[in-house]
Amino acid sequence: MEFLDLKTQQKRIRKSLEKRLGTILDHGAYIMGPEVYELEGKLADYCGVKHAISCSSGTDALLIPLMAWGIGPGDAVFTTPFTYVATAEVIALLGATPVFVDVYDSTFNIDCEKLESAIKNTIKDGKLTPKAIIPVDLFGVSARYRVIEDIAKKYNLKVIEDAAQSFGGSIGNQKVGTFGDVAATSFYPAKPLGCYGDGGAIFTNNDDLAEQCKAIRIHGTNSDKYNSEMIGLNGRLDSMQAAVLLEKLTIFDEELEMRNKVNDYYRKYLNNAQYIPKNYHSAHALFSVTLGSHDKRDQMIYRLNENNIPTVVYYKYPIHLMKGFAYLEYDKGDFPVSEKLSNTIVSLPMHPYLNHDDIDLIIKTLKDK
Ligand SMILES: Cc1ncc(COP(=O)(O)O)c(C=O)c1O
Repeated sequence: MEFLDLKTQQKRIRKSLEKRLGTILDHGAYIMGPEVYELEGKLADYCGVKHAISCSSGTDALLIPLMAWGIGPGDAVFTTPFTYVATAEVIALLGATPVFVDVYDSTFNIDCEKLESAIKNTIKDGKLTPKAIIPVDLFGVSARYRVIEDIAKKYNLKVIEDAAQSFGGSIGNQKVGTFGDVAATSFYPAKPLGCYGDGGAIFTNNDDLAEQCKAIRIHGTNSDKYNSEMIGLNGRLDSMQAAVLLEKLTIFDEELEMRNKVNDYYRKYLNNAQYIPKNYHSAHALFSVTLGSHDKRDQMIYRLNENNIPTVVYYKYPIHLMKGFAYLEYDKGDFPVSEKLSNTIVSLPMHPYLNHDDIDLIIKTLKDK
């Protein structure tokens, strides 16, 4: 059994993908070729957003808008410690300060009451200027954007949706990619829409921000590629990766529906999975359950692995307890929900091609005493 089955998917698209890759070998525009622009048009249409700007990774998709806003030393950016390290890393890279906020124990996403308290405390403290919020759509489930956007308005903060795991999801009819001022997704191979290397995209309805992001991803250049107008980086997506994504997009909605069915089947038998609020449509990047304690979780992983069922712990360490972030001087106990989740969570196999026999075996192993 595979944790993530990319081989079956590849069989479906292999022929047409080889044709597309052949076209690139013929035209030779490996960087910013026609596939990149075709993909950007299709991604924007898919989300219902004005601009989709492809880039080299989900990390750069977060970094580039922060650079466009001039976020830097003295600024506070609010996010959670229960996410992939990239979310906090981009804040720190710019010399700004990640201010962590704990998550809900149901959805594992940023706790909005605690978010507002953290903003108030930061203002009262007077050492940092609150500038932005990066809510994370963990495992494919969107954060509470209606509430977050109200808080952002109240305190004049920007919102950047970390949609690395949630592309394809929605709240009601509103697709991921359209929340906040800007959204960032990742096309890392394991993501619901993944390429065969690194890739990412930025989504926004703001024309000026889009122009700035486009310039920053190519060394801060506009029409003259040898004359930089602002500090940028090499953040482009290449044509080969765009071609992979274009082919995968043709079966993406069908695969989302298949993920949905896997999720429904799991939930018939399990009541300890991540909570998906009513009207929220997850992209089901991962299927995660919590066990009562660290020991129970580790015993369960052992039992599942003994039965050749692969598991992964996302995330074993909350960011505030990682050595790389020790300079922020957080302590154990500062974010109890995130810390408990790190000790008790485990992700089970999740992909569109997971069959009922496999899920039955997983359930049976989980329920065996
Ligand atoms: C929540 C989150 N944010 C950001 C990223 C960074 O994306 P990438 O690996 O494409 O740089 C990831 C990737 O795993 C992620 O899961």
